[in-house]
Parts: sequence; structure tokens; C-alpha cells
Amino acid sequence: MTLQQSHNAEALKSVGIQQLRVGMYIHAVDVHWWKHPYLRSRFLIDDESIITSLRAAGVREVCIDLTRGAGLVEPETLVADPPEPVTPQARSHSSTSLSRGEELERAKNIRTRATQVVRGLMSDARLGKLQSTREIETIANDMVESVTRDSSALVSLTSLKGKDEYTFAHSVSVATLMIAIGKQLGLEAGQLRIAGSAGLLHDVGKAMIPASVLNKPGTLTISEYIEVQQHPRRGYEFLSRAGFDCRPTLDAVLHHHERLDGSGYPDGLAGGALTQIVRMASIADVYDALTSNRVYHQALAPTATLGMIRRNTGTHYDAKIVDALIRVVGIYPVGSLVKLSSGRLAVVIEQNSLDSSRPVVKAFFSIKSGLHVPPEKIHLAKSPEKIVTYEDPFDWKLEPSRYWQP
Ligand SMILES: [Fe+2]
Ligand SMILES: [Fe+2]
Repeated sequence: MTLQQSHNAEALKSVGIQQLRVGMYIHAVDVHWWKHPYLRSRFLIDDESIITSLRAAGVREVCIDLTRGAGLVEPETLVADPPEPVTPQARSHSSTSLSRGEELERAKNIRTRATQVVRGLMSDARLGKLQSTREIETIANDMVESVTRDSSALVSLTSLKGKDEYTFAHSVSVATLMIAIGKQLGLEAGQLRIAGSAGLLHDVGKAMIPASVLNKPGTLTISEYIEVQQHPRRGYEFLSRAGFDCRPTLDAVLHHHERLDGSGYPDGLAGGALTQIVRMASIADVYDALTSNRVYHQALAPTATLGMIRRNTGTHYDAKIVDALIRVVGIYPVGSLVKLSSGRLAVVIEQNSLDSSRPVVKAFFSIKSGLHVPPEKIHLAKSPEKIVTYEDPFDWKLEPSRYWQP
């Protein structure tokens, strides 16, 4: 592949991955977008970790744009040995070391408690009272600590769409994704706690919308549609009246359905008027909503959802935060159904943070025979087997979650 094809050759220069430096602007890379962790092929390298990730994703050559970023530095100033890629273990278990199984057990417990807290909050909100936000802050802090110890455990549980009432489970998932996205963006612990609280509270205004409208299977009438769209403002007003005064959280509650191009609601904000926490909330919200089964829509496959979000990057969603979401869930998120090169169907059971195109999967179905086969756990990073494509479980009438129980 010629990276400089059809562009001004003077402005563009092909460089090896070992020559890549912070400050350079990438114009193209030599692998397909989903094989590297960044959604766009054109972006500024503003952090050393980007180079590490590209290297880990198997990128060998990139094309840089000299008009938008730095060129090659003089040979004597080059760093002799680039830093080793961070291993998943080193990245994940930065503080107290727990085994993966222990962290998953803790994460399950945190998720159960967070769901109960949201349930209590929503029933209080229905009665127009807010006793305390202390419980929200405490559980948000536990979630931040879990994600900080091992970013994958709590996130992987968001893939398991259980029997909890949708709004409760959704709020906990949005909080988890916002914390994990915030961690990717380098936010400090205090900001991560705010992101978590914002996720838990973002749909509190739904407590004030009749369930018959929220859960209506068919098409909403115009007046019902307008009523549903009241939930951000109803939530904001409820929290403000109760004396809740964390501005970023209130901002996320009021504006999580706004879009960059001004097409969202309730205020039709656009561009710079959408703060970072609002951009994080809108992406976490839409990702979890679309990957969940609702009375009025079938869940979309996670990889298809990421593709949809990616197509609306720049118009609806912030590119940097979409990149962070992909780094959080991987291109084949846990719970995804995938087709393997051996002709088997498998469910993704664990992410591979060094190469998200090669996660750990469990193969359980033979396409050729149309029959279930004995489940086999495969580390794709250590196997000749590859993912050919993702599949929609609905098309196969299969329930991949049966083969993935954390
Ligand atoms: Fe909402
Ligand atoms: Fe939501």
C-alpha cells in the first residue's frame, strides 16, 4: 500500500513506526482503522501512549503531514530505544493488586449495590424527594476505585444485559463507561467521581415520565415524544430544587441528549457549548442504549453500534471521546458474537488491550453443521484462528451471553 497516494507528496512523508514522535500529525497508517485503537486515520500525536498503542496494534509505517505537525527530528536527538509497550497487567493493576477473578467478584458486588442505589433514588424522585446524594457519591467512588485497579472488570459487566429494570442497569452502565472513558482521557480521581455520579443520575428525570410512555412498544405520538424529551430538564430541576449543586453533574443531566451539530435536545446546544462531561455522557448513553434490548428496539451488535457512532463522529459526537470509548470496550466488545476463520461462532469473553482485534473468545457453534459444539476458550493473540467478522446474534437466534457468564 502506498501511503502517499493522491496527496501532495511534499507535505506528506512516510516514516517508520520507530521514527514516530509526539507532535507529528498522522495522515495515514498502514493498517485498517479497526486494527488500530484510533478511529480516525488522521490525527495529532499528542501523547507518547498513542505511539505505544500503534506499535502494539502492528502498525509498521505511517504517513505524516508536515503542514499540520512536526517533521523528523535530527538523528542525534532521537531516543535510542522506544519504551516497551505497557503490558495489560502493568496497565490494569496499577494500585492494589487483586486477581482478575477477585476484581470481577468485587465488580459484580459494586454493580449490584449501584443498581440498588439508583433504584432507591428513582423511587424517591417519583415522590419528589431527595434524601441525600451521599450514597451516590460513595458508590461512584467505589466504581472509580474498581476501574482504576482493573479497567476491564466493571466495564465487561456492562455487556451483560440482565433482568434488572432497564433504567437502573442503564444508569450504572453509563456511569461505568463514563468513568472508564474519563480514565482514558487522563482525568484525575475527583473528576472521575463526578463522571460516575453524573452517569448514575443522568436519567433521574425519567422517574417523572409515566412508565406507559417510557415503555410503550409502538411508535410514540408527537405529544408523547415531547414528554419523553422532557426528562433531562425534569431531572435537572428535581436535583436543583433538592439543593444539589455540582455544576458538571447538573450539566450532564440536562444536556446528555445534545449533539455537536445542534440537533439534540432540550436546548439545541452546539459545538463549544457542549462541555467535556456532556460529550462523555452523550456517547456513553447512546452506546449503552443501542446495545440494550428495549420494548421498542432489538439490541444492536456492539461492533455495529461502534460503527454507527463512528459515522456520526464530528456531527454528533466528539472524536477524541469516541476514540476513548473504543479503547475502553475494544472493537469487539465483551459479549460480541463473532465468526472465526475455522467456521465457528464464538463469543468475546475478555478484551486484549494490546490488540483489540484479537480478544479472548469462547467458540461454541459450528456454522457448517449448524450445531452447538463443546465450548472452547481461545486466546486469539496466541492462536492461528482469526475473527472474520462480527455477527448479529438475532440473525442466528443465539444467545452468546449463555456462554459468557462472569
Ligand atoms: Fe436520557
Ligand atoms: Fe440514558
